[in-house]
Amino acid sequence: MKFENLITVVIGGGQGIGQRICLKMAGEGATVVVADIADGRDETAEMIQQAGGSAVALFVDLTSEESVKKMAEKVLQEYGRVNHLVNNSGIVGAKGHIDEISLEEWNESFSINLNGAFLTSRYFLPGLKVQGGSIVNMASVAGKRPMKCRSPYCTSKAALIGLTRCLAMDLGEFGIRANSISPGRVEGPRIEQTMHHAAQLAGLTYDEYVENTKATVPLRTFIPPDSVADSVSFLCSDEARFITGANLNVNAGSYMD
Ligand SMILES: NC(=O)c1ccc[n+]([C@@H]2O[C@H](COP(=O)([O-])OP(=O)(O)OC[C@H]3O[C@@H](n4cnc5c(N)ncnc54)[C@H](O)[C@@H]3O)[C@@H](O)[C@H]2O)c1
Repeated sequence: MKFENLITVVIGGGQGIGQRICLKMAGEGATVVVADIADGRDETAEMIQQAGGSAVALFVDLTSEESVKKMAEKVLQEYGRVNHLVNNSGIVGAKGHIDEISLEEWNESFSINLNGAFLTSRYFLPGLKVQGGSIVNMASVAGKRPMKCRSPYCTSKAALIGLTRCLAMDLGEFGIRANSISPGRVEGPRIEQTMHHAAQLAGLTYDEYVENTKATVPLRTFIPPDSVADSVSFLCSDEARFITGANLNVNAGSYMD
């Protein structure tokens, strides 16, 4: 198994895409630290353990530097190193025109979607330096192609792609790679909610709206969360050993750059 004896930290591993990433990495032999603010972290760790893998669940609130520091210290005390750091947590955040978004709402999105990855990279750095490693940041196609009335999300994801490149530049000399992934529309509750709302606005049924949307995508599909997990696994693997500073689109061709 390609990640045997390696330690993977997944921030936001308690549900959705993050849970699939945890299961994938554990299935490849990694010991997975499932870090999340939500209780789902315990469920993910149990799923891994029941499948015969190794996992531990830890609380983290990315909006608190102290919380990130404490979580990282716990991991480094226990394992002495980290091989993969996956910054998957993210929130949709406030929606609206720029004058309808408060500074508090703006800051909340940046705090979780951007500053969280800065803090985890900072506090896990000593652990990543031990054997070299890989940081994967979960950005979004929205970080490259803006969506209407979604400035906190789109801007924070664009900045996350920028941070990833800076990490690649600064950490390469320590054998640490940093890449980001930009998923398109991923199957799951988040996209269903958005589609229901959009269908209503367009005066279409949910199924009609979904069908119309898929028709605009070259591969005619939304993205299964497992395929995002596969890309994380690839970027963490030796096969990607010369890939750093990249942003990988996982979007069935919905946006090309
Ligand atoms: N679902 C999509 O269509 C889609 C598309 C593109 C990008 N993404 C990105 O992929 C990632 C995962 O998306 P998802 O749909 O699985 O989202 P999700 O809402 O299901 O999961 C996000 C996770 O982040 C955690 N989180 C939120 N606030 C936190 C905090 N303060 N501290 C620590 N953890 C916190 C949540 O508890 C949750 O487990 C996000 O970064 C999202 O922006 C998702």
